[in-house]
Amino acid sequence: MKKIQISPSILAGDFSNLGLEIKRLEQAGADMIHVDVMDGHFVPNLTIGPPVIKSLRRYTDLPFDVHLMISPVHKYIKNFSDAGSDIITIHPEATENIKNSINLIKSLGKKVGLSLNPDTPIDIIKNYFNEIDLVLVMTVYPGFGGQKFITKILDKIKDLKKIKDEKKLNFDIEVDGGINLNNNNTVIKAGANILVSGTTIFKENNGDIKKNIELLRT
Ligand code: DX5
Ligand code: ZN
Repeated sequence: MKKIQISPSILAGDFSNLGLEIKRLEQAGADMIHVDVMDGHFVPNLTIGPPVIKSLRRYTDLPFDVHLMISPVHKYIKNFSDAGSDIITIHPEATENIKNSINLIKSLGKKVGLSLNPDTPIDIIKNYFNEIDLVLVMTVYPGFGGQKFITKILDKIKDLKKIKDEKKLNFDIEVDGGINLNNNNTVIKAGANILVSGTTIFKENNGDIKKNIELLRT
């Protein structure tokens, strides 16, 4: 079995000091850094764009796991690639042509992820399983950190894992939203192998991020 990887979301970090936050996460054992990009249109919140990602790039060699919650996404993919993203995850609803966007991300030499909102069925991405590196399963409605995990999404994770095993596919199953120290084992058992977490990592155990990363992994 693949090792469980932790992708801390800097959305819950100190935005006045993101470079330092990223360094702290690296020292605490993070496997990658989850960057939530929101446009106030695809989701009801605004965060950061390519210039910030570019300026953060020099703080770590860890992969930047960039979650694009923006629409239309296609014309911005190159900017996020140039800024230093390593994994570029898009929502299928946010592009006119999923295949073209996947191809563009791959042509830029980046890993490609497709994200499923809570109400988006697996079927929408089934034709692309052979071409993608990961599926990001949203366990909250995207837009904000600190929301409550939607338990019924566990079935979707299990279904995805079943398809992955049956067809011997290679994509990672990453979960995002409301992951905490009570449900981490449940999502891992359901099939997730990358866990995104903001609030739990930055706030639990008085902000002991090293401890929280270790606890989430096990
Ligand atoms: C939600 C974002 C998540 C969020 C996770 O739209 O995609 O990555 O930052 O934060 P927590 O772990 O606080 O739910
Ligand atoms: Zn995210």
